[in-house]
Amino acid sequence: MGKIKLKKFLHGGDYNPDQWTEDVWEKDIEFMKYYNVNAVSMPIFSWAQLQPNEDEFTFEWLDKIINKLYSNGIHVILATPTASQPAWLSKKYPDVLPVDIHGRKRKHGARQNYCPNSPNFKNAVRRIVEEMAKRYKDHPAVIMWHISNEYGPYCYCENCAKAFRQWLKDRYKTLDELNKRWNTAFWGHTFYDWDEIEVPSYLNEEYEYLPGRQKSSFQGLSLDYKRFMSDSLLNLYKMEVEIIKKYMPDVPVTTNLMGPFKPLDYHKWAKHMDIVSWDNYPSIKDAPSSVAFKHDLMRGLKRDQSFILMEQTPSQTNWQWYNSAKRPGMIRLLSYHAIAHGADSVLYFQWRQSVASCEKFHSAMVPHVGHLETRVSKELKKIGDELLLLDEILESTTKSEVALLFDWENWWALEESMGFRNDISYLEHVDAYYRALYKLKTNVDVVDPKEDLTRYKLVVAPLLYLLDEESAKNIENYVKNGGIFITTYLSGLVDENDRVILGGYPGWFRKLCGIWVEEIDALFPDMKNAIILEKPIGMLDGKYECDFICDVIHLEGARALAHYEQDYYSKMPAVVENDYGNGKAIYIGTRPEQRFIEGLVKFYAEKAGVQPILPVPEGVEVTKREKNGNEYVFLLNFNGYDVNIELKDEYYELITQKVLGGKATLASKEVMILRRLKG
Ligand code: GAL
Repeated sequence: MGKIKLKKFLHGGDYNPDQWTEDVWEKDIEFMKYYNVNAVSMPIFSWAQLQPNEDEFTFEWLDKIINKLYSNGIHVILATPTASQPAWLSKKYPDVLPVDIHGRKRKHGARQNYCPNSPNFKNAVRRIVEEMAKRYKDHPAVIMWHISNEYGPYCYCENCAKAFRQWLKDRYKTLDELNKRWNTAFWGHTFYDWDEIEVPSYLNEEYEYLPGRQKSSFQGLSLDYKRFMSDSLLNLYKMEVEIIKKYMPDVPVTTNLMGPFKPLDYHKWAKHMDIVSWDNYPSIKDAPSSVAFKHDLMRGLKRDQSFILMEQTPSQTNWQWYNSAKRPGMIRLLSYHAIAHGADSVLYFQWRQSVASCEKFHSAMVPHVGHLETRVSKELKKIGDELLLLDEILESTTKSEVALLFDWENWWALEESMGFRNDISYLEHVDAYYRALYKLKTNVDVVDPKEDLTRYKLVVAPLLYLLDEESAKNIENYVKNGGIFITTYLSGLVDENDRVILGGYPGWFRKLCGIWVEEIDALFPDMKNAIILEKPIGMLDGKYECDFICDVIHLEGARALAHYEQDYYSKMPAVVENDYGNGKAIYIGTRPEQRFIEGLVKFYAEKAGVQPILPVPEGVEVTKREKNGNEYVFLLNFNGYDVNIELKDEYYELITQKVLGGKATLASKEVMILRRLKG
């Protein structure tokens, strides 16, 4: 597995020199040096500039700029340009262009507009990637490979249908098995020939139930198509990696992920990446906890490694509904936020603001005005200077005692299934539980339910609706061996084909949680119920509102912690605790108000022995990274005001290079990186 040979915090961003004349390159280098830029990603979208036709390659301009950069101390994250193919390719080989979910054949244009199962697309990709790998394999500037860009859209063409049928044969071996797993007897869907299987689109099984909310009438098929499409795009990525590794086995390979991006199962993808990298684009309204969640999700893909923040914007984007400027201090704080959660880089989209096209008003490190005497540029310069002080934390890791389970297949199934509530947003419910963990002021891992959970004291799994047997056993063993597990309504209900686990809800979790859920009641948005505690739980006492879903619960060994106030299930258990092996499972059968979730999670975290890294005021985030026996504590003040911090031990603060202990002030939007002093 490759590691980045440059032992420095990567600082720089996406560079598109081919959008500019060479005299501008000179200015670029001068400005890069001023900012202490040491790495740029390119040539991300330059396939057309590198291959004007099928038989010709024009790498000379790229050689020139790479050499120029390198002779000025700037390294290259070398990108394969395969996210946007040249027009001549789409024209000559129409199978390159995808078919969308409406069944419409797309025309050439935009980007990420290709079919992952097109033989001609794959051939062309192989060719350009091989040319690049051969050409740059010995170039000392290259520190990492950036494969394509933000893999994404699905295709529904005939080539995909053929490949899908093969994928299904590999998975199920026989049609009998497929018919059984997909429960095809329902609505007469039984298949007698593999060729009868169609891809699920808006022409058959899929439909837009509400604007932007897709549902399927045939879960087994739809779920497998998502797996297949995620795999198809992954195969395309792997094909590129294989070529590159032939020439440069030791240089790390990555592709820029997008946080909780629904179409791709990043847990599978990460296994084929040397280092995880991702693009972070919060709006100014996003809560720090929601950004923290995304970092923890991305770090959790390879939880014992640091990651790369591949893109963020110095100030505005162009694609959000309202593209606000980042407030003073925020880009610096967000950069440290990424580092606090495990990033080893501060990289931006993009280096120089485009002169035209849709991204011309997207901010960049070099703005349209053409000089760096701007509010934003000054902040970027400060970050660039400060990063030079942080090399000792490179490749430090994040150890967490608590974890939140997150799963893409579950996300797909939960939201596309019909029943109970058809307006479920997995991320919204996950956010409620992540926020509760965030408030513990400790590191949080967001991980796959299949991960080894033994290292955690507390594991939380909101709406873990779909699980295969392996994941269910994994969780059961975790609890049996002494773990504390909190789960909720709509968990444990179906297997990997979205088939109900028969014999009583919550299926996989019935024994573990010591309950039987007889009914799952859905509340209209204007309906509320309440839960009343049997006795105080930590700081919680009395009554709390609840809504969304109310499970009608019978105890089968569990103890009720709270019961419903109203309706035909008033007085019946709403929240329960069950002893299982040496551990405990807690089941929350409804959506309680946030302060209840936070109080309950805090209570069990304390019971499990989870301590805050440092007790800091509200609005201050604290995380910890570790390396070579050293602990680095990060404090970030997201408040609009200064706060006082009490440090019991002595610390060396890396940015101000001062020793701190006792009382200290953390100004608004400020950060401290504290190395605990020993002895
Ligand atoms: C990213 C993409 C970049 C750029 C950026 C704008 O998603 O990878 O190429 O378009 O968005 O915010």
